[in-house]
Amino acid sequence: MCGIVGYIGPKQAQEVLISGLSKLEYRGYDSAGVAIGDGACITVKKKAGKLANLSGELAAQPLAGTMGIGHTRWATHGLPNDTNSHPHATEDGQIVIVHNGIIENYLSLKEGLMGRGHTFKSETDSEVLAHLIEEAYQGDLEGAVRTALSQVRGAYGIVVTHVNHREIVAARTVSPLVMGVGEGEMFLASDVPALLAYTRKMVFLHDGDMVVLNDDGYRVTDLAGTALQRPVETIEWDAEAAEKGGFDTYMLKEVYEQPQALTNTLIGRLHDETGEVNLDINLDPASFKRISIIACGTAFYAGLVGEYLIEQLARIPVECDVASEYRYRDPLVSENTLAIVVSQSGETIDTLEALREAKKGGAKTLGVINAKGSSMTRELDDTLYIHAGPEIGVASTKAYTSMVSAFLLLALWLGRARGTISGEEGAELLHATRELPRLVEEALAEARIEQIKRVAEKYHQARDYLFLGRGVNSPTAYEGALKLKEISYIHAEAYAAGEMKHGPIALIDSNLPVVVVATESRLLEKTISNVQEVRARGGKVILILSDGDTENAQHADDVIYVPRAHEMVSPVVNAVAMQLLAYFTATALGKDVDKPRNLAKSVTVE
Ligand code: AGP
Repeated sequence: MCGIVGYIGPKQAQEVLISGLSKLEYRGYDSAGVAIGDGACITVKKKAGKLANLSGELAAQPLAGTMGIGHTRWATHGLPNDTNSHPHATEDGQIVIVHNGIIENYLSLKEGLMGRGHTFKSETDSEVLAHLIEEAYQGDLEGAVRTALSQVRGAYGIVVTHVNHREIVAARTVSPLVMGVGEGEMFLASDVPALLAYTRKMVFLHDGDMVVLNDDGYRVTDLAGTALQRPVETIEWDAEAAEKGGFDTYMLKEVYEQPQALTNTLIGRLHDETGEVNLDINLDPASFKRISIIACGTAFYAGLVGEYLIEQLARIPVECDVASEYRYRDPLVSENTLAIVVSQSGETIDTLEALREAKKGGAKTLGVINAKGSSMTRELDDTLYIHAGPEIGVASTKAYTSMVSAFLLLALWLGRARGTISGEEGAELLHATRELPRLVEEALAEARIEQIKRVAEKYHQARDYLFLGRGVNSPTAYEGALKLKEISYIHAEAYAAGEMKHGPIALIDSNLPVVVVATESRLLEKTISNVQEVRARGGKVILILSDGDTENAQHADDVIYVPRAHEMVSPVVNAVAMQLLAYFTATALGKDVDKPRNLAKSVTVE
């Protein structure tokens, strides 16, 4: 899942392209490149490694020209090196392309092209596109791109320029592409943050859309050439929202943005007077008998909390599946099923395809999604937006806590509508939910940060970690382990605490830090017995305890106190401690937390 950009207008393209790529680097940072046309020729400059390698060279030798395309890569086919970096040009340098996605039939196309005399420089699937366009080109660039795309199978966001044309041609299928509409200038990018410094007027391109941009504007067609109308949407977020705002990293900034993000998730949806929850969705709570929650990674763990909350509060059977399994296991779906997909980006291909699978089976579909205008939101019956704002750090933080809060709202709403929770219970939980922004603000107090930092630094040399939790906080343990793995590269396992004695307990010795979520809960005693089992094997116990719980502190080597919260909302508060433990462990190890190795923000290939 690479990041691509394009620009045509009066400005020097280099500045716009590099600024855009710097906002897309979370999508991939194996290499970066630009191609800039000055009307006489198109110059390509590309470098392996982070964008800084390229922008450093361009600062020394700037490229002149007011039309250009750019790319930051997450390698799928071919090593991360200069040759495999994008843009890819034809031998004569006339046609240059950047591509995000995977061309599944590239090998057979490549053999055919080589058989017809084409010479390839790279090992990438993407280079095939440049040669196919060259083969079809008879003076009409748009037509040549259309002909080339009619031969490929797979996912693509592609942007193309030709030395003889003052225009940019682009198209998308599966991979996201948004167009920015400026005053006398046009922009293209894989995601909105890349364009916010220049415009907030966006056109979200749909699957199968093609667009031609020039100095006077743009026209959208489908792959057959039929003209299409796409709405121009104004984005609420501003450029600053996509900046670091004085923090060292996007991740830390987004951790600190959680109180505001949670306020945005809850705003206008909680009614203290009536004790009702009002969700801006058209779903009939009585129109389904079972729920399937489907997602990937951190979003999946938010779904696991959702499963717990909905079964507890609304008494509806819920299954929670990782999307990459769901889509191929021929799931039992019917019109009595509500399929809920959970996603920050709204672009994760496994989740998008799982959504299509559920729809095929007749399910009603609801999304718990952050990114407006994303592909999933266009295919869902309804979307419960979490309004967490742009999340740029690869390790998801505020989107997770906002997703869990959205599930709290949904479970409350369903429970009230189906009469499975009383007005009193509803009011109590509604109050606890409304408290979340304040509780998370408290969880970010300086003294607590210092406490977590001390624990993280004490154990940052550990080779392995184990995370345990029970009930609604067992997913908190999974999320804690994932955050640590993602950004510190320390091997970490997570288990429902009661499951530990059925195997993982064999891992425990005096070198193993064991993080146990033991906040206020009706299962606390059970959890503390599991802690005893760990201590009996010499494990180093790090306890996450509710404020004031000094009694259980005696069972720990180290304690991280978190604000006391209602059990049902505690996964949100406890997640903050998990995020910070991972963050300070990774920074103690000198890791680049915003660009963890081998990862990318939204996974748009299988
Ligand atoms: C989480 O920190 C990771 N970035 C990853 O597991 C992520 O949650 C997963 O790829 C799902 O992404 P989505 O929410 O955008 O669909």
